[in-house]
Amino acid sequence: MAAPAVATGSARWSPVTARVLVTGTAGFIGSHVVDALLARGIQVVGLDRRRLGQDALADENLAAAAANPLFTPLCLDLATDRLDDAVDGCDVVFHLAARPGVRPSWGSEFHDYAQSNILGTQRLLDACVRSGVRRLVYASSSSVYGPADRPSRENDRTSPVSPYGVSKLAAEQLCVAYACRPDNRLSVVALRYFTVYGPRQRPDMAIGRLLFAAYTGLPVTLFGDGSQRREFTYITDVVAATIAASQVDAQCAVVNIGGGASVSMRGAIQEASTVTGRHIPVQVADVQPGDVPSTAADLTLAGRLLGYWPTVGLHEGMARQSAWLVNLSRDRLTAFAS
Ligand SMILES: NC(=O)c1ccc[n+]([C@@H]2O[C@H](COP(=O)([O-])OP(=O)(O)OC[C@H]3O[C@@H](n4cnc5c(N)ncnc54)[C@H](O)[C@@H]3O)[C@@H](O)[C@H]2O)c1
Repeated sequence: MAAPAVATGSARWSPVTARVLVTGTAGFIGSHVVDALLARGIQVVGLDRRRLGQDALADENLAAAAANPLFTPLCLDLATDRLDDAVDGCDVVFHLAARPGVRPSWGSEFHDYAQSNILGTQRLLDACVRSGVRRLVYASSSSVYGPADRPSRENDRTSPVSPYGVSKLAAEQLCVAYACRPDNRLSVVALRYFTVYGPRQRPDMAIGRLLFAAYTGLPVTLFGDGSQRREFTYITDVVAATIAASQVDAQCAVVNIGGGASVSMRGAIQEASTVTGRHIPVQVADVQPGDVPSTAADLTLAGRLLGYWPTVGLHEGMARQSAWLVNLSRDRLTAFAS
């Protein structure tokens, strides 16, 4: 299936200035987007199904935002709750909420991926149309591509090999379908993020697990022989691209956001060892279903449309994540061990 890279249009867009909705605010990327918007003086309505004050992760990720009078947190489930009040009065919606992760998406947990990622996105799009929202920025994923032997371009065939990837592609295509409706003014920019890392990264993700292994001496599991390659993208670059996507003049665009280089897992282990000055103990396991041998992003369109180019390389990004990790609360650290 080929995605429309850019179906440009006449959205005659003006930059974000007023009030926006961010979904997935208690999570890794969403909380960083919130902090960056608040720092620009923008009013942020933050939607997540994790409730501030009752969820340790939400409290930690949103500690600064919760103290900011420009931030209004809402505890809602995209798949089941009424969304109109959350969306009302917002020019832009940054849609980052989703059930992430490839491995748990096989089997019975797929129900939540379908509900949160597909149905939740469709319900949010419907609410955006009813409220006259101008722009939705959607957090898509490199996992929509499937196996590739060269840097992926947005027009390449999409062929996800995990139920998670299928759910992200389905939601991305819903976004495109809504943006193509002639009877509404909603425009969409979908960003295909390539493996994001940095402070607050989810504990199931590779870089955090490598750093955790370095500091604790507990082995990290390496799936396969370590030759699989990933394009790692630092969080501040992702946030910059996400905010830029709210400001470009386009009716419908699908854009890769990567870190600028693809690194083997062996290379990432070596880098983590250099950054921490410690040995990384490794235990090898079979390649997992849904894991592709390589991800790499062609960033031509990101540069042209968003003026995007990554600014933080793997060594610097890992050093920043490492500095965050060593100061982490005990609760948060135990999540890496599970
Ligand atoms: N982290 C990455 O490397 C990466 C790569 C590609 C794409 N993405 C996409 O970026 C987005 C953010 O990823 P993340 O790593 O920050 O994940 P995360 O799990 O840290 O954050 C997602 C948040 O969404 C919330 N959420 C999930 N389902 C919900 C629902 N039904 N209603 C309300 N809230 C709900 C969760 O509670 C969570 O706080 C996701 O859409 C993910 O698919 C992430």
